[in-house]
Amino acid sequence: MSELPVRLAVIGHPVAHSRSPQIHARFALGCGHAVDYTRIEAPLAGFVDTMRAFAASGARGCNVTVPFKGEAFAACARLTERARRAEAVNTISFEADGWLGDNTDGAGLVRDLEANAGVPLRGKRVLVLGAGGGAAGALDPLLAARPAALVVANRTPEKARALVERFAACAARLDVPLSAAALEAPGSGFDVLVNATAASLQAAVPPLPAGTLGTGALALDMMYGAAAMPFLQWARGQGAIARDGLGMLVEQAAEAYFAWFGVRPDSFAVLTALRREVDATTAAAGIGA
Ligand code: ATR
Repeated sequence: MSELPVRLAVIGHPVAHSRSPQIHARFALGCGHAVDYTRIEAPLAGFVDTMRAFAASGARGCNVTVPFKGEAFAACARLTERARRAEAVNTISFEADGWLGDNTDGAGLVRDLEANAGVPLRGKRVLVLGAGGGAAGALDPLLAARPAALVVANRTPEKARALVERFAACAARLDVPLSAAALEAPGSGFDVLVNATAASLQAAVPPLPAGTLGTGALALDMMYGAAAMPFLQWARGQGAIARDGLGMLVEQAAEAYFAWFGVRPDSFAVLTALRREVDATTAAAGIGA
């Protein structure tokens, strides 16, 4: 008798653009698992009902994307520590004793920076732009990587202050100086810059002063494809190494896969294949890197 595939999905609104099914299909192929990973578009007012129905169908878990990460956080019976502090959930395991919520976004970011881009964060000065869900998901794993300093700069500085306050105890425990700043005055000479704002969705680049980046800095945008282009061009203009969010996307998926199967897929091979596809799409649209 052949094994029934493990049922998984990404739930969002909209969700048609999500590359998670392709990523997880490649992981499953590499790991020899039978997996049925689909996209589910939940109505804006019907996220929990949609998830409940999916869980009742015998599914093992799901990924959650925009705009439901906060609702997923509220709906889970249990949370990992990193999801609790982020107040956002992107990975759920439907377990017998309730839904377990995790946030793998920040771990995916850190793994992409350290393992794929080859930039160990320990002892580095790191600047995160934004104080929304993207930034909140990144802070816990960024702090755990023990940078020399972590600054959160946001267009609305009060939001950066509130976020920093939420992670202050964690930063103190790890002995990492964590502070908030305005976008116009974040400090200078950063080794690593992470753009977690929604600016790229508006083809805008946050207005950082000259000198924000140190020599040889790495600047990463959480977006990829055409949306990331203005930021990546700006970063290269500053002499930085520019990196988009594709590696983070694949690595957060690998963390989720590990949560569901207890096995770490070959994420680097999948990133290499996906990179080829995304570059071809971007080139076909006439957008140069
Ligand atoms: P997400 O969950 O994707 O992080 P969000 O919670 O809406 O989305 O947060 C968006 C972030 O992008 C915020 O930090 C926002 O800044 P404000 O707090 O001042 O709104 C930031 N942002 C959005 N558009 C921006 C722009 N054009 N320039 C700079 N920052 C921008």
